[in-house]
Amino acid sequence: MPRIIPIDMKRILIAFYAVLLVAVVEAQPQSTNLIPAPAEYSVRSGSISSNKMAGLHEKVRISEKALLRRLEGRKLADWQLKSAYWMELGKKGVKIVAADEEGVFYARQTLKMMASLDSTVSCCTILDWPRFRYRGVMLDESRHFQGKDFVKKQLEMMALLKMNRFHFHLVDNPGWRLQIDAYPRLTKLTAWRPEAFFWDWEKNQIGGAFVEEGTSEAYGGYYTKQDIADILAFASERHIEVIPEIEMPGHNYETRAAYPELACSLPNGGKDPWELCPGKESTFEFLEKVLLEVFDMFPSQYIHIGGDEARKNNWQLCADCQAKMKAEGLKGVEELQSYMIRRMERFAHKHGKRIIGWDEILQGGLAPDATVMSWHGIEAGLKAVKEGHDVIFTPTHYFYLDYHQDSAQFRPVGRLVSLEKVYSFEPMAESISEADAHHVLGIQGCLWTEHVQDAWHAEMMLYPRVFAIAETGWSQAENKKSSTAEGKAKDWQDFERRASVLSEVARKWGYTVYPCR
Ligand code: ACM
Ligand code: ZN
Repeated sequence: MPRIIPIDMKRILIAFYAVLLVAVVEAQPQSTNLIPAPAEYSVRSGSISSNKMAGLHEKVRISEKALLRRLEGRKLADWQLKSAYWMELGKKGVKIVAADEEGVFYARQTLKMMASLDSTVSCCTILDWPRFRYRGVMLDESRHFQGKDFVKKQLEMMALLKMNRFHFHLVDNPGWRLQIDAYPRLTKLTAWRPEAFFWDWEKNQIGGAFVEEGTSEAYGGYYTKQDIADILAFASERHIEVIPEIEMPGHNYETRAAYPELACSLPNGGKDPWELCPGKESTFEFLEKVLLEVFDMFPSQYIHIGGDEARKNNWQLCADCQAKMKAEGLKGVEELQSYMIRRMERFAHKHGKRIIGWDEILQGGLAPDATVMSWHGIEAGLKAVKEGHDVIFTPTHYFYLDYHQDSAQFRPVGRLVSLEKVYSFEPMAESISEADAHHVLGIQGCLWTEHVQDAWHAEMMLYPRVFAIAETGWSQAENKKSSTAEGKAKDWQDFERRASVLSEVARKWGYTVYPCR
């Protein structure tokens, strides 16, 4: 027999259940605070207190077949499958399915971030994989040297953000930062200078002096082979590949200060201030010996050979350069640079490596297998893609992290590269055909440090902008690519909200995140 409930009591009960329902829905948000946003996320009933997340029971299955079943026909490239994961978070524990350890690692990073961002974590199911295979950060340690602990701290944050390439700009005009046994003066002399702040050392585009290691109050430092081994082990545990850059032929003031014979021979006896002389065989002998030690230290598939901003004008005046151009049938200095890069590429190939260079390596003809880092904008990258080359986009006006974030910033330089500007970059330009899309390896933020002397300043330039680069590199286009202006504004507002939650957490962990308090 049905229970008879008085009409007023019925109303009270309906109101009570309605309030309860609203409370439950509010406690279980349909989106997450995660950065980068996962490909697919759905809420399940229940939640877990974040302080219980660390001890959560984990059931892990590494099986490509099992992951493919979860993907239910979604088509992923092999490299995406390797990083992909399915995860079901319930009150009693978490189940993870992945094709590879790397996917399990990213699932755990997701759990770690969820536990850090919210005091209560909703039970959920996540299916997730990266959009681009190269999701990078570059750090210039030549202008100002931060050292091993700083690098590890940034690798930790990169891993949390599912970034996987660390481009290590280790050598440049104001300091060489890597132990090379065959050429000890690179670190005994040119890792040290009297002035700490770069602009006090470099005046009017002319570099200053270096001082011997051990000189009192000398500024500088370098990585020993043991330091590099430590950093590489730390990075490898976090599925990050470290790509060293050894600059050639420009940006070599320091190598020439250590070994003056690497400079061009000029008729007036003067020496040009920047470049190596590609006319001399001894220059190639130097580079090859250096690279052999670099290859021994770094297991990365790629070596970055620089190639940017070589002035080349003294090559016109140098007898050795002129003789080399004649002997090799080269029509100008652009082709002389191209000859050098192609030759270094052959050397790299012989040792199982591939080269990356800044977009100037297109001038005078691109080396056959080179990957281009498109920094002047995106045009050089688009040209390289058309020619069948791989490309990484690092356009200055979006991804140069030495540029200021707002006009109130400490030591503002360059154009305004706000968080919103960084977030707005779309790597897949409409002119890139579907057949060529695989040549876009990904994106990278570059922190040049001419104006950035201290660790806190470096972090303030990195964060929160690196959060936006991570999201563009990992999250699927569909999560972001709203076609209407209104949709774009919503995407940005949601990202800004999530970035501010993560910024607060990062500050608690000891990172300096802009804007600083
Ligand atoms: C560069 O900014 N010179 C690559
Ligand atoms: Zn020369």
